[in-house]
Amino acid sequence: MLLSPMDIAAPSASWHQIVEPRLSEARVELWLYCQTMAEPMLSGNKWMKLQYHIKLIQQQQYRGLVTFGGPFSNHLAACAAVAKLNKINAIAYVRTDNIDLNNPTLAYCQGQGMQLIAIDRQTYRQRQQQTFLGLITKRHPDHLLVPEGGSSVLGAQGIADLNLTDTPAGRADVIATASASGGTVAGLIMAASRASPAANAVKEVIGLAVVNDDALTEKITVLLKTADVKSFPWRIITTAAEHRYAKCPQQHIDFCCQFTKQHGIAVEPVYTGRALYKLYQMIGAGEFAPGSRISFFHTGGLQGVAGLRYRDLINPQQYRLLSSTKAG
Ligand SMILES: Cc1ncc(COP(=O)(O)O)c(C=O)c1O
Repeated sequence: MLLSPMDIAAPSASWHQIVEPRLSEARVELWLYCQTMAEPMLSGNKWMKLQYHIKLIQQQQYRGLVTFGGPFSNHLAACAAVAKLNKINAIAYVRTDNIDLNNPTLAYCQGQGMQLIAIDRQTYRQRQQQTFLGLITKRHPDHLLVPEGGSSVLGAQGIADLNLTDTPAGRADVIATASASGGTVAGLIMAASRASPAANAVKEVIGLAVVNDDALTEKITVLLKTADVKSFPWRIITTAAEHRYAKCPQQHIDFCCQFTKQHGIAVEPVYTGRALYKLYQMIGAGEFAPGSRISFFHTGGLQGVAGLRYRDLINPQQYRLLSSTKAG
């Protein structure tokens, strides 16, 4: 039986205008697009990137999926949740020396029935190489291989079902989001390039890279080429080159807590908060013309807050704030 997205957990989308003196001073409008699901692990960009993988698994009668991720990965948690809901198998190759079941993400994944296989960092680096992927496919021939982050063409096409272009106040000039494996930005570019009639077009899509990955632009370019997307203005901006992925410097944590308190929408310092911090810097530096309307996709990721507390990257008070505030 083919399950529709609605059968799994109905997505609920909402727009929130962020009103603050530093935005009005720059004469920039900022809108957050939030997508929450009955199953919180699938909120944000998660269900959107997985939906067509699940359809394919059902159509082709695979037993399940096999995928990759770090030990605190939102993607792994989402795959575990979606597999359980659809009664399919889930196998994950986890970038870690041993499977620590005190880690809240891995404990959750295992609790959903996901099979967790530890692989060391060096082997994990091969996750995009054809020979390595060939071996994995041979080892799990009846499972669909879902790339890290769900960033395949199917993942990007799922994101392209979203409309980030039309805010409640009218057409956005800029669409922005956090970017890591590239599928989310690729999907937003696909959607914006379809949606924009020349006279009233979105001017650009901006991916705020939370990873220091020189290959990210190329990965997105490949996804767009494979999906035959016509040219559209987009760029990748590095958020904080001096901080590695998920390092969560104090200023990002403080920003997240302040934003969450002030606006009643939780953001976390690995993805959405890190990206918004950079976006605010760009706004403050006058990088957007006065009168610009920016639409920002809140990609979720709040399951990761428990892992931040587990690693002592945030204190108990910060944990309570970020884990008890809604995601949109
Ligand atoms: C919460 C969150 N935001 C943003 C991203 C970045 O999306 P992508 O990997 O498609 O670039 C991810 C990773 O999937 C994520 O977990």
